[in-house]
Amino acid sequence: MSNRTFTMIKPDAVRAGNIGNILQMINAAGFKIIAMKYTKLSTEKAGQFYEVHKERPFYGELTEFMSSGPIVAAILEKDNAVADFRKLIGATNPAQAEEGTIRKKYAASIGENAVHGSDSDENAKIEGDFFFSGLERF
Ligand code: CMP
Repeated sequence: MSNRTFTMIKPDAVRAGNIGNILQMINAAGFKIIAMKYTKLSTEKAGQFYEVHKERPFYGELTEFMSSGPIVAAILEKDNAVADFRKLIGATNPAQAEEGTIRKKYAASIGENAVHGSDSDENAKIEGDFFFSGLERF
């Protein structure tokens, strides 16, 4: 059971003015913020972050979109963090996301789906380390 996960509030949600609403839902669900930054990925950095999807047909679209504007990156802490956070954000495709989830409320499509959440403890660590040094975690 993990106690940390990694998230990004994606460019679509930032553009729509939903940073505050999404952070509110994250806090209300009991996640503690360990690290957070407002930043923008270059296409190259987005490509590195999503390297595991390199062979997928949507890779170009994904890296283009993820570098299209600023994001909020954060490390979150809670018992069972990875699984509970994925429950809170809902299915990757917002059309399949359950009522009350972040993606149901704020995502428009499978590509522009408002938030990212790590899919395993191993990836949560890799993704958190991609954005944050030890001095940036509290
Ligand atoms: P995320 O959880 O950030 O992890 C990988 C991302 O790839 C995913 O959210 C989606 O935004 C994106 N993605 C997955 N499937 C598709 C698809 N079929 N078309 C476009 N983007 C996709």
